Amino acid sequence: MSITYNFVGRAAVVTGGAQGIGRAVVEKLIGGGASVAIWDRDKALAERTASELAERGKVVAIGVDVGDYASVERARDETVAALGKVDLLVNSAGIAGPIAKTWEHSPDQWDQVIRVNLTGPYHCCKALVPGMIERNYGRIANIASIAGKEGNPNASAYSASKAGVIGLTKSLGKELATYDIAVNAITPAVAKTAILDQVTQQHIDYMLSKIPRGRLVLVEEIANTIAFMVSEECSFTTGFTFDISGGRATY
Ligand SMILES: NC(=O)c1ccc[n+]([C@@H]2O[C@H](COP(=O)([O-])OP(=O)(O)OC[C@H]3O[C@@H](n4cnc5c(N)ncnc54)[C@H](O)[C@@H]3O)[C@@H](O)[C@H]2O)c1
Repeated sequence: MSITYNFVGRAAVVTGGAQGIGRAVVEKLIGGGASVAIWDRDKALAERTASELAERGKVVAIGVDVGDYASVERARDETVAALGKVDLLVNSAGIAGPIAKTWEHSPDQWDQVIRVNLTGPYHCCKALVPGMIERNYGRIANIASIAGKEGNPNASAYSASKAGVIGLTKSLGKELATYDIAVNAITPAVAKTAILDQVTQQHIDYMLSKIPRGRLVLVEEIANTIAFMVSEECSFTTGFTFDISGGRATY
């Protein structure tokens, strides 16, 4: 029996929650009694995931492009109408972008990765933090990547976007530190999810070769750490980046 936290009465948004790491987080949160809004660009998949989990808790599916602020505002309004408020935000929506040298990224590819992976979490925080301030309660978990600390070759837009998420987390954490709001990031190593379909086998082999534990991290392992990050128990740590890199990170 794995540890869970008490999320009864808490309402959560999990971006990218239709699948992968986000879905594992949704399952963990409803397991602790939270009601959850899945915010995903793939609305059909979000709806399927929500209906698969319906027996285990309250889950609603909302179609959103986190890279578009008007779309995020609409998603917030729909979520507040459905769940009444938002206490917890997990920013999981993300894309890999091109596997190519920096000078081979097109400006459009660069912009798209930054827009989804970095501007997306900013949009979601901008839309949801004022409500958290009003109620003096909030927990935000931003899924960055070990690539944001290390800089993977052939993935500079991705690595830069994730380094940006770590910076956003540090700034916002300090801005909100006098409220009962915690803002933290997490830097996973490679997990087997659909995002790997966007990259080459050679790139996966490179990332795996860098993990001292010698294996991929499980989405459930990431979700367990995130559950702590968005629990009431995470009441002092803020602006911090949790490691789940299997020994790769040295800071
Ligand atoms: N899987 C890994 O190896 C790994 C490692 C480190 C960090 N991460 C990060 O974890 C997060 C989740 O990744 P995953 O492996 O679960 O990927 P995934 O591809 O399984 O899931 C990502 C979800 O995000 C959604 N999404 C993409 N763009 C969106 C947008 N603009 N608006 C709304 N939703 C959007 C997708 O539809 C998808 O459902 C990402 O931020 C990723 O960069 C993943």
